[in-house]
Amino acid sequence: MKSIQSVRGMNDLFGEDARFFLFLQEKLGSLFSACQFELLAPPILEKTALFARGIGNATDIVEKEMYTFTDREKESLTLRPEGTAGVVRACLEQGLIHNQIRKFWYLGPMFRHERPQMGRYRQFSQFDAEIFGIATPDVEAEALSILALLWQELQIDKHVRLEINTIGTLEERQQFREAFIDFLTPLKADLDEDSQRRLTTNPLRILDSKDPKTQALLKDAPTLSACLGEASRAHFKTLRSYLDALCIPYHLNPLLVRGLDYYGHTVFEWTTDLLGAQATVCAGGRYDGLVSELGGSPTPAFGFAMGIERLILLLKKTNFQLQDASPQYFIVAEEGQMTECLLLLQDLRRQGISVALATGGGSFKSQMKRADKSGAKYLIQLGGEDTLAGCSHLRIKDLRAEHG
Ligand code: HAM
Repeated sequence: MKSIQSVRGMNDLFGEDARFFLFLQEKLGSLFSACQFELLAPPILEKTALFARGIGNATDIVEKEMYTFTDREKESLTLRPEGTAGVVRACLEQGLIHNQIRKFWYLGPMFRHERPQMGRYRQFSQFDAEIFGIATPDVEAEALSILALLWQELQIDKHVRLEINTIGTLEERQQFREAFIDFLTPLKADLDEDSQRRLTTNPLRILDSKDPKTQALLKDAPTLSACLGEASRAHFKTLRSYLDALCIPYHLNPLLVRGLDYYGHTVFEWTTDLLGAQATVCAGGRYDGLVSELGGSPTPAFGFAMGIERLILLLKKTNFQLQDASPQYFIVAEEGQMTECLLLLQDLRRQGISVALATGGGSFKSQMKRADKSGAKYLIQLGGEDTLAGCSHLRIKDLRAEHG
């Protein structure tokens, strides 16, 4: 019978990737906890309306990438394509953010029906951080400085670059949108196919079209920055002054608009040259309108998400060395000594010592092979011919010395 394969774009996590995943989970969880972020983990499945309303009906994600199905109660449900909408829903439902400053993090799988390739999957993991209740750019600088610190600690700071932009308020974007549509409508036939469609559904996204012909036409187009008012400019200027003071280098990218509708003011992406087309490792921005869009009172918010698989690819590309996970000790069991070995194993583990045991027995030679393979530093042998009679039945060998 033919064996059943996994779903395209949904991968098993094991081996080296799994070790990197565990390392990042621990690293990110402890870093963000130390920065006063709390864990908030909403479910993977939400009502479809949450994403349609939260992310925006005219986005690629909602239009063509969601895993949506009708359940047994005839309700339309969706595997979350991103985490922010679910976090806001949870905050409102649990009363977590009304008139409060709160910071949350979470890590888990997201689902998008995209064309799979290196760095782009249909099930992938994001680490997300979301901050509620602060409208000023200092919180944006704080978040970006945590990320800059993380890149340094992961030794990839030389391989990532920060791109930032401001897309202003809803009213400013509306003003730009009208001027932009007026400019592009007579040129519609010369735009790429996606941009032609977006001209009526989501014109802002035309700005980040990858089509060279479309990009050439945009050279003379009205700019979003020309539509920004004093307050929006001042907000962005202050953020930039903080980044300068923190010595966090950035590139201004006036074409950066992001693929989710909830953003306003600051948007950013950290990209790398080492991952081909899937260059964005971490991305986010300000989304002051989302909480009220989803039924809460107006609440400023800022957040970001990083793709864990892309981060793992980048760490592997840059030869990041994980700490050795081998046990310190490996116990080999002589025939008839298993009970004592199990007791010793339990005792050592109680003391926090990293140790493994050759359960399943086998010949001394095969146990030695297992000890070797485990990477342990020391071998513990109970019983055996050359133990010191009357003293102890325990012998410790330095495996490294013997094999060095
Ligand atoms: P996003 O830009 O859609 O933003 O995704 C964030 C990151 O998730 C990307 O930069 C990338 O590293 C990773 N990612 C996205 N799609 C895939 C995929 N198909 N395969 C592998 N990795 C992928 C958001 O999702 C927003 N919710 C971020 C945010 C949080 N904004 C505010 N708070």
